[in-house]
Amino acid sequence: MARKERYLVGLDVGTSKITAIVGEAGDEGTLDIIGIGMADSKGIRRGVVVNLEAAVESIKKAIDEAELTAGVEIDTVHLALSGAHVKAFNSRGVVAVAGKTREITREDVRRALEAAKAVALPSGREILHVLPQDFVVDEQDGIGAPLGMTGSRLEVNVHVVTGSASSTQNVVACVNRAGIAVAETVLEQLAASESVLTQDEKELGVALVDIGGGTTDFAIFERGSLWHTGVVAVGGDHFTNDIAVGLRTPIPDAEKIKRRCGCALSSMVDEDETMEVASVGGRKPRVMARRILSEILQPRAEEIFHLLWDEIRRAGFEKSLNSGIVLTGGGAMLEGVAEIAEQIFDLPIRRGAPSGIGGLSDHVASPAFATAVGVVMYAHRNQAGELPRPVGAGAFGRVAGRLRGLFKEFL
Ligand SMILES: Nc1ncnc2c1ncn2[C@@H]1O[C@H](COP(=O)(O)OP(=O)(O)OP(=O)(O)O)[C@@H](O)[C@H]1O
Ligand SMILES: [Mg+2]
Repeated sequence: MARKERYLVGLDVGTSKITAIVGEAGDEGTLDIIGIGMADSKGIRRGVVVNLEAAVESIKKAIDEAELTAGVEIDTVHLALSGAHVKAFNSRGVVAVAGKTREITREDVRRALEAAKAVALPSGREILHVLPQDFVVDEQDGIGAPLGMTGSRLEVNVHVVTGSASSTQNVVACVNRAGIAVAETVLEQLAASESVLTQDEKELGVALVDIGGGTTDFAIFERGSLWHTGVVAVGGDHFTNDIAVGLRTPIPDAEKIKRRCGCALSSMVDEDETMEVASVGGRKPRVMARRILSEILQPRAEEIFHLLWDEIRRAGFEKSLNSGIVLTGGGAMLEGVAEIAEQIFDLPIRRGAPSGIGGLSDHVASPAFATAVGVVMYAHRNQAGELPRPVGAGAFGRVAGRLRGLFKEFL
């Protein structure tokens, strides 16, 4: 296993902003946030590098700021990978238990996982994660920890996450050009789930929905495991564009108005509330009803959530979301998004911000930091020898701890 690092750095290269978070691992297994660096994202769109030089500069800026606030030098980061080019699917590995006594050993589990990984991938794609969901021993399913059990046939169900090899390499190359090594890459939904979801939510069934700048990424957890990941090609920036067009105001002003006065559910806005809107071409600012703004935003919010609902239904998980939906990402900060989502899904909805950390936790307690903080938490758990996903937690809680260590060796 890798040497334990005292300082763990998470880097989230988003479409809107680049965030570097420095965490300090304490001796008692604690994690404190000690540094935060942020820069506007230039040259990267939906996880794909479109301008290398600009991207490198933005990354450098975020890293420099994080170094300054933390007072430590950063040479390695754990990198969140955008969900936009990610395709994930469920797979299964089956092996015969090898030993004479038919007792399942680590080697059997390793072979089952290898078998589950052995799928033909389209060219240009690579495996990012192989996440075990549960095991089947002979006919008995839903087993979290099969080690030491007796049987003749061992099956493992896994979620295989794949990404575009070149997109990943290009982002890693930008980080390297900024003088920083990448220790590992983590799917952004998986990272965000570390910082904003509770164990109970993951057990009972929940959808994590990250409304970013360019896209809305989601992941569905049930029985402690990741079952489905997907992307809806509409994000927070679409709201801004709608405002710019609808109110005829420049994009930067539209962004400001959205953050200051925006509301995604028009019935929440009083009819006589007003706001000031900058005009294009040097004309004087105008005063307008705030209701008009929310009438521009509401259809976009409805579009995102209807598309999301279609995706969830198509994947067959509409009955699995017993803990409802957790909204995160910068777009989740828009007033009224949780309320409109509640109307559309008829499920419990909450906003998710990072929790369970110390240090500068107040400064990162915003949905916009879910991914960057999540990467640090993921790396911290990984370093503690735990695979950052519970193997059938709850019923299998105690054995799971041992098993997580085991998976860490394999994957
Ligand atoms: N207070 C706010 N109110 C409304 N929207 C906001 C607020 N703060 C940020 N946003 C929006 O959130 C979006 C950016 O979210 P986030 O920072 O999570 O994106 P990102 O991670 O850079 O992008 P992506 O994940 O799509 O690559 C932008 O569209 C921004 O306008
Ligand atoms: Mg993001």
